[in-house]
Amino acid sequence: MSNRFYVTTPIYYVNDVPHIGHAYTTVACDMLARYKRAQGHEVFFLTGTDEHGQKVEKAAQAKGETPLELADRVVKRYQSLWQKLNISHTDFIRTSQERHKKGVRKLFEQLFASGDIYLGEYEDWYCTPCETFWTETQLMDGCCPDCGRPTDKLKEESYFFRMSKYQDQLLKHIEENPDFIQPRTRRNEILNFVREGLRDLSISRTSFSWGIPVPGNEKHVIYVWFDALTNYITALGYPDDPEGYCRKFWPADVHIIGKDILRFHTVYWPTFLLAAGMPLPRKVFAHGWWTVEGQKMSKSLQNVVEPNMLVDKYGVDAIRYFLLREVPFGLDGDFSHAALIHRINSDLANDLGNLLSRSTAMLNKYFDGILPEPVERCAEDETFVAAFAETVRKVDAFMNELAFNKALQATWELIGLGNKYIDDTAPWALAKDENQKERLGTIMYNLLDSLRLVALLIAPVMPDTAGKILALLGDEAEAVTLAGNDCWGILKPGTKIAKAKPLFPRIEAE
Ligand code: MSP
Repeated sequence: MSNRFYVTTPIYYVNDVPHIGHAYTTVACDMLARYKRAQGHEVFFLTGTDEHGQKVEKAAQAKGETPLELADRVVKRYQSLWQKLNISHTDFIRTSQERHKKGVRKLFEQLFASGDIYLGEYEDWYCTPCETFWTETQLMDGCCPDCGRPTDKLKEESYFFRMSKYQDQLLKHIEENPDFIQPRTRRNEILNFVREGLRDLSISRTSFSWGIPVPGNEKHVIYVWFDALTNYITALGYPDDPEGYCRKFWPADVHIIGKDILRFHTVYWPTFLLAAGMPLPRKVFAHGWWTVEGQKMSKSLQNVVEPNMLVDKYGVDAIRYFLLREVPFGLDGDFSHAALIHRINSDLANDLGNLLSRSTAMLNKYFDGILPEPVERCAEDETFVAAFAETVRKVDAFMNELAFNKALQATWELIGLGNKYIDDTAPWALAKDENQKERLGTIMYNLLDSLRLVALLIAPVMPDTAGKILALLGDEAEAVTLAGNDCWGILKPGTKIAKAKPLFPRIEAE
């Protein structure tokens, strides 16, 4: 098995500022990237911005700036948000960068030379906001079937990609690789779409100029999706591959995207790659969409949830945790302040916070904060220890399925067991009996070492919190990762461990 892992977010449009939906995709990728790194993989984690196209050109015109000025401004918003959200990406690609444009031109030229791109004429219904052409039969009451807005009939000279030629090959690939498109319902959707037949795809435009000119015919700019999708290889260094990243990391292990851009990633992109003779990504996973307090998030409803504000108010780890815990990855979910506050109070302040504060408080009360040597294990200790090994295995399986919420749920069941271990062993009763000192010491050791493991399990989603817990537990705790399963008993007896400050203060609902 390859020890390298390549994960990507979509590249975000710069005509909109980042909101909770963008943060969601990126935080999910970040949790996966951090988990894989902790497992010893060499990870390439890519994100970036999609800067070309008519929408950006129009948005810039409306603001009296050039498209690049607009892009430069919005890119900073994305970059500062990713920093604030503790995103650990390896690279940030902008489609306006020369390294990207060069790769796109090269791919276009290659497919033109092989006859898979040809010049023809286009006449169809075009939805400007979605940058998509629709056939007469696809329209819904004359409007775009995706966004419901009016479409215009456009006729123009256009370059076409021979997508129809790759229909059977793509179908075969999807059929033979059940994990290629996930979740399963999305896979079925795409199978049906491909079985209905693929038309050749128009991949150039003459109606605007903000884009990458077609090599040798500068009247045309390359269609934004041909341009944008190619970022997944240009960021690695395609076509020259000076660093060898293309050879090393392609094909991607997973493109994580929202359900709205599934077809582009599972029909267009794979057929481009087939035409170029390149391997296909191993997996495309489409997550669901967030509504806000039960409603679609939109500028006109003025209910767009701004992630910076949330982080300032609740803290970065709480937001990261909420996004991935609240909704099964792949399904739609609803954002509400009540649900967020409930998660913070019950899972973070209560379950996790209490386990840490009770354990460190008792250690300080009964042993002056000096970690005792564990002695003999009782049956209840064995059960507790075994639960950890089991959870580490479960979390690994869930992470490989991208079932982030289940991985967190399993971890929280374990935190629950930790609190139950305290209740069952009742250290405060043992503390009254000098003969039980060794037993009490063993319990304290187990508790503190279990917190170390909990910190490792939560590190991919809550890196700051995990760091705080590990720092409290001493150098040994910070040196070990979860890569092995039998990682119990790492803390060094004699370590001085201070009483923890509350990790997550309870929030009173407004
Ligand atoms: N630029 C294209 C992607 C090109 S990838 C080669 C694009 N950009 S986007 O900025 O509009 O959207 C980026 C991602 O944000 C998509 O995966 C989309 O699903 C996600 N989300 C946008 N709104 C969302 C919600 N309300 N909820 C969850 N995710 C949503 O599409």
